[in-house]
Amino acid sequence: MRERLVAGNWKMHGSRESCRALLDAIVAADVACAVCVPFPYLAQAAERLRGTRVAWGAQTLSEHAQGAFTGEVSAAMLGEFGCRYVLVGHSERRHLFGETDAQVAAKFAAARAAGITPILCVGETLQEREAGRTQEVVARQLDAALARGGIGDAVVAYEPVWAIGTGRTATPEQAQEVHAFLRGRLSAQTRLLYGGSVKPDNAAAIFAMPDVDGGLIGGASLVANDFIAICRAA
Ligand code: PGA
Repeated sequence: MRERLVAGNWKMHGSRESCRALLDAIVAADVACAVCVPFPYLAQAAERLRGTRVAWGAQTLSEHAQGAFTGEVSAAMLGEFGCRYVLVGHSERRHLFGETDAQVAAKFAAARAAGITPILCVGETLQEREAGRTQEVVARQLDAALARGGIGDAVVAYEPVWAIGTGRTATPEQAQEVHAFLRGRLSAQTRLLYGGSVKPDNAAAIFAMPDVDGGLIGGASLVANDFIAICRAA
């Protein structure tokens, strides 16, 4: 039986004050989940969440251990703040910041080497889906990371690019189809999350699919009641 996971991806949103309010609300709801917060709020999250059912993490990390990499944050630094998770290869990192499969794989390996569980994001664009290339794309993205020492206890998130922040969710059947394909390349224990416009009103149907073990939640993770409802749906 795979443990369920709902992780919030706050992206570049919030303030110290909104972060405090959101963390307080999630802790008060006593739901097991994770939040991936912007770097400056990691210390605040660690302090507020230690000893609760809410794990915390970051949204990216450097593939390098240390050195002259201005603006970058290493896995060891995240470890010092008690991060349990880190997103790697989110589509915004791939598409807006040019991260390649090889770079994502190196970040994946760096996280694992530091004892932080990577949440590897994979997903096709609308153009790729319409060209019938969904499986080829997610397999390529997955295999690049797997080549760096296997899956271990890493989490994989299937996030179709056309569903992220668009309000256009994959149907439960579309999600299950890709998850079943990914499952075939992974161990039975690997947790597979779906991400892309998950909201309180569609979460239960998506999470009911046999190979969907939870969700990676963007926009709705910033609204306490919505995020809590999605955690409860899982
Ligand atoms: P969304 O984002 O829930 O706002 O679509 C998901 C994500 O980018 O992880």
